[in-house]
Amino acid sequence: MSAPPWEGLAINGERLLRRLRELGQIGAIDNGGCARVALTDADRAGRDLVLLWMRDLGLDITIDTIGNVVATRPGHRGGAPVLCGSHIDTVATGGIYDGNYGVLAGLEVIETLIDAGVSTARPLAVAFFTNEEGVRFAPDMMGSLVYAGGLTAEVAHDVVGADGARLGDELARIGYLGPTPCPGVVPHAYVELHIEQGPILERTTTAIGAVTGVQGISWQELTITGQSNHAGTTPMAFRHDAAYAAAAVTTFVRQLAQDIGGHQVATVGQIDLHPNLVNVVAARATMTVDLRNTDEGILQSAEARLFSFLDELASEEGVTIDRRTLVRFEPVDFDPRVIDLVERVATDLGHTVARMPSGAGHDAQMLARVCPAGMVFVPSVKGISHNPAEFSHPTDLVAGADVLFRVLLTLAEEA
Ligand code: GLV
Ligand code: MN
Ligand code: MN
Repeated sequence: MSAPPWEGLAINGERLLRRLRELGQIGAIDNGGCARVALTDADRAGRDLVLLWMRDLGLDITIDTIGNVVATRPGHRGGAPVLCGSHIDTVATGGIYDGNYGVLAGLEVIETLIDAGVSTARPLAVAFFTNEEGVRFAPDMMGSLVYAGGLTAEVAHDVVGADGARLGDELARIGYLGPTPCPGVVPHAYVELHIEQGPILERTTTAIGAVTGVQGISWQELTITGQSNHAGTTPMAFRHDAAYAAAAVTTFVRQLAQDIGGHQVATVGQIDLHPNLVNVVAARATMTVDLRNTDEGILQSAEARLFSFLDELASEEGVTIDRRTLVRFEPVDFDPRVIDLVERVATDLGHTVARMPSGAGHDAQMLARVCPAGMVFVPSVKGISHNPAEFSHPTDLVAGADVLFRVLLTLAEEA
């Protein structure tokens, strides 16, 4: 039997951790966090640094019409590449690991092979996808959605962000409106390494998550219109109070998730009041509701219950509620072969491993539309993410990258 392709090799953990810290310096915010919101100047600076590292390794680099960057090391047999990666944009109050870890670990896998002079049969590629977070421009996972052919770049370019900017203009402004057409090259397989961003692995003292799929996501934007009036003189029964209605929606969705139980989660993450003054009944509230479930049928019934509550609330309070769907993605199952491979590799390396669904959205769920896809999770301390306090232990980060290394090498030898 011939030796496995990784015989005698392991990734350079120090180099991976150093790059994570260095990239985390760009857009650094207080308490160790990071703000590189998609297509801002900080995002550009982060992209430039990762691109420089990719160029230093002599990789073939493409930038496509939605700004996804793919760096490829050719294989000696050719064929469709084995792709890994994630995103390097962050939420405005992000940590340094979300997304960045998967991209830099992919780069580390390739550099390890280059250092050792080991080639793979298939090409090996690492990507960072544009606007995974979706906080400025909806939908989230936009770059990978366009890569996979689920949305055209032209339609994506016309998306107007929360700050009024047009996506295509911002992409050009930061210099990442590339020439490579979308949809992108269909990979042989896609594997994404990511921090869990939740508490399960840590609570169960498990080193590696073999991710089985991603839950469905429904994002609604609500505009509630009431009537502004004097806070002192307007009797309670005469009010059409947008702030009250926004609060009622917020408490309703908490109750809804509790009633449904299981994997159901519900979040109001954003509320803006107008005119937002201490002595004025609010005339308008704009807010978002994020509903997620691993089961499409249950997610649909959660949406239906929310929508009928909105109708009742509007008539009771005498307000209008306009609703716009920002994002709607069904739950995604990952490829059983990739899940098995992640589990086997982690076990062979002596790690504890658990199969688990992902609570967060990921680029892998879009790539799953076009090729076998899967993910590897490592523990997040206290399950905290989308927060500057996001942290994963260096030993866990290095362990996850070694799992990624062997998974990618196995796939890259496949016929
Ligand atoms: C993306 O990070 C999401 O799950 O909201
Ligand atoms: Mn992420
Ligand atoms: Mn995120």
